[in-house]
Amino acid sequence: MMFVTYAKPLVGARRGLAPTGSAAPGVYPLTEVLLRDRLRRQRQCRTARRNIIANLSSEQSRKKHTVVPITTRKHIEEAIRDGTLDQLKLNPYELPKLNSDYLRHPLMEELGNDQIFISDDCIGLIKFHGGYLQDNRDQRVRGELKKYQFMLRLKMPAGECPPSLYTTLDDISETYGNKTLRLTTRSSFQIHGIHKSNLKTVVQSIVRAGGGLYGASGDCSRNVIAPPAPFVDAAYAQARHVARMVAELFAIQSHAFADLWLDGELAASIEYWKKELDMDEVRRLMTEDNGRGQVLQDSVEPLYGKLYLPRKFKVGVTVPGDNSIDIYTHDIGIVVFCDAQGQLEGANILVGGGMGRTHNKEETFARAADPLGYVPAAALYDTLKAILAAQRDHGNRAVRTNARMKYLVHRLGIDRFRELVKSYMVGGGSALESIRSMPPWTFQDYLGWREQGDGRWFFGLYVQNGRIKDELKKALRALTDRFNFPLVCTPQQNLLITQVPATARPDVETLLASFGVETAASALDPLMRDAMACPALPLCPPAITEAERVMPRYVQRVRELLSKVGISPHASFVMRMTGCPNGCTRPYMAELGFVGSGPNCTYQVWLGGSPMQTRLAWPYIDRVTDDQVERVLEPVFVFWKSAREPDESFGDFCDRVGKAQLEAYAQRYWDGVPAAPVS
Ligand code: HEM
Ligand code: SF4
Repeated sequence: MMFVTYAKPLVGARRGLAPTGSAAPGVYPLTEVLLRDRLRRQRQCRTARRNIIANLSSEQSRKKHTVVPITTRKHIEEAIRDGTLDQLKLNPYELPKLNSDYLRHPLMEELGNDQIFISDDCIGLIKFHGGYLQDNRDQRVRGELKKYQFMLRLKMPAGECPPSLYTTLDDISETYGNKTLRLTTRSSFQIHGIHKSNLKTVVQSIVRAGGGLYGASGDCSRNVIAPPAPFVDAAYAQARHVARMVAELFAIQSHAFADLWLDGELAASIEYWKKELDMDEVRRLMTEDNGRGQVLQDSVEPLYGKLYLPRKFKVGVTVPGDNSIDIYTHDIGIVVFCDAQGQLEGANILVGGGMGRTHNKEETFARAADPLGYVPAAALYDTLKAILAAQRDHGNRAVRTNARMKYLVHRLGIDRFRELVKSYMVGGGSALESIRSMPPWTFQDYLGWREQGDGRWFFGLYVQNGRIKDELKKALRALTDRFNFPLVCTPQQNLLITQVPATARPDVETLLASFGVETAASALDPLMRDAMACPALPLCPPAITEAERVMPRYVQRVRELLSKVGISPHASFVMRMTGCPNGCTRPYMAELGFVGSGPNCTYQVWLGGSPMQTRLAWPYIDRVTDDQVERVLEPVFVFWKSAREPDESFGDFCDRVGKAQLEAYAQRYWDGVPAAPVS
C-alpha cells in the first residue's frame, strides 16, 4: 500500500500526483521462443511503467493536501502471496469479489434462503448481476423490518430494445414490479419493486426474451451507450457497432450468472445484440495477448481477473459533432471516423470523465474527460484493452470513493496516463496519434419525427424523467403489440420508436393520442424537455432528498421566476437534479444543477455548464432549502437578462461572469444597490 496526496482540482485544471506500483504481467500459452520474447517485452513494459508512475513526492510536498491511501491489484496479489492480506487497506467491496469464486458465493446460498434481503457482501456481488437491494423509505415503520425489494437494471448496448423484450419488461413490471418502467441516463431500463422470491423467475423471463443483466452494474464495464438515432448513415452505424463490440469485448466471462439464475444452463436464447457480431472475433480480440500485460493469467476472466475492476467503468461511443451521449462524462469516450467507403477508419479517444463525488470530501470531484489521442481502426481494441488494464492494475482499491479511473488520470496527469496506456499497447503505443480535429459538439434529444435515411422514420417520444407509467405505459404496450416497432432508449431518459414506414406515421400518432400522450414536442416547455432527474426517493439507498418526484415542480417554479423577471417563455437551459452527489443524471454538466445536500429538498446549486455539455459546472451555493430557491435564482436570472451578450446561453453567461460576480450581484440586488458593471 502507499499513500497519495490530493489537492482539490481547480475546475478544468488537472495536476499530476503520485500514483502507485507497477502492473502485474499476464501470461498466456505461447511457444518457448515467443514466451522468452514476451517476457523481455514485459520487463521493458514494467520498467517503463515504473518510470511513468514514479513518485512525485517533492511536487506533493509543496501543496496543501488530503492524504488518500492507495492499494492496487498488485499490492493485493503480493499480500496474498505473503499472507498479509489482513494488513492491507482495502475498501469493503474488494474481499467479497476476491472470495466469491467469480461472482458466485455467498450470493448463490443467500438467494436460496428465506430472508427477504441479502447481506452486505452480497449487495456488492448482486450488482454484477444487474440487481440492487432497496427498500421503500415511504413505507418504513420504526421497529419493523424494512420492506426490502430489488431493482433490476438491463444491459442494452446502444440503448436498443427489441419489441418482444419491451413487452416482457412491461409484463414483469405489472406482475412482479411496481407497475412502472424507468428509462435511465445510460440508455437502459430499470424495473423496481421485485421481491427476492421472484427474482429468479424475473431474471429467467428477461433472459428468455434475449435481454441481458450481467454487467449492467458492478465493478466492470457498464452499458455501453451510443447516439440513439437509428440513422443508417455509415458513421452512426459504426458507432452502434463499436458500442456492441465494446459491450462484448469487456463482458464478464464467469458462468456465475448461469449458475445463479439459470440452473447452470447457458442461455438458450442469445442476447439480441450478439446476433449482430462475429463472436469468435470478439473472443479472439478479448484473449489475444500482446505480451504487454493486458491479458491476465486467468482462465476465467482474461481481462478482469478475480478482482474485476476497482469501480464501475463507463464507455460511450459517438460520431463527430453528436453529443447526445455526454461524451465528457465517461471513463472512455470514443468518437468514430469513417472513410469514404463507410468503413471504420479510426477513433478519437477521451478518458477520465466521471460525475460521482461526495459532499465535503475535496478528494472527490466530478471530472470532464481529457483527450487521449487518435487511433486507427486496427489499433482500436488494443487501445481500449490497454486503458482497461491501466485502470485494473493501477486504480485505487483502498478507498472506494477514489477508485474510478478519473482519479488515476488526475493523479498521473493526462500525459503520464497516456504513457501508461501506451506501455500496455502493441509496439509501445506507436499507433496512438494526436487527437483529430472535430466539429463543435451539439446536444441532440431526437424528439419528434426524423427520417432514418432508408425511407423509414423514427419518433422521439418525450418521457418525463424516464418514468413510464399509467396511460403512457398502456399506450406503449398497445403500440408495441400492434406494430412491433423496435425501441431505443436515449441517454436523456426518452424513448425512440424506430423503423416506422412513412405510411404508419399517422397511425402511431393516433394511437398515442388516444391514450392522451402528447406527441408534439413543441407543446412541451423547453425547460422540461431538457430536464432530467434521477429516481432518488423513495427507493434509492444513497438518496439524501427528492429528485424525480419534485423536478416537474422545480421546472415550473424556474419558469415562473424567469417570466417574473421578464425572460422569454421560449428561453431554456439544461436543468438536472439528483437526490445525492453521486450524480446519476450528470448534474455537474448542466447549466443549472440541483444536487441533493440535505433532507426536505435541500440542494447544492451548480451553475456554468454549457448547453452542449462540453464543460463542467461549478458549485454556486452549498445548501439551498426548498423555500430559498427563488431568492437564490432571481438575481442570477436578472443579471443574465441584463448583462448577457447576444444569444448568450445561461450556462455560458454564468461561466463567463463567474461565481464571485454572481454573488456580488445577488448581494447588491437584495440590498437595493445599483449593479456594478460586469468586469
Ligand atoms: C458514485 C456512486 C454512485 C452510486 C452509489 C450510485 C448508485 C445508484 C443507485 C442505487 C441507483 C438506483 C436508483 C433507482 O433506480 O432506484 C442509481 C441509478 C443510476 N445511476 Fe448511479 N450511482 C452512483 C454514481 C453514478 C454516476 C456517476 C452515474 C453516471 C453519470 C450513474 C448512473 C446511474 C444511472 C444511469 C442510473 C439510473 C437512473 C437514472 O437514469 O436516473 N450513477 N445509481
Ligand atoms: S444520484 Fe444519488 S439519489 Fe440519485 S439515483 Fe444516483 S445514487 Fe440515487
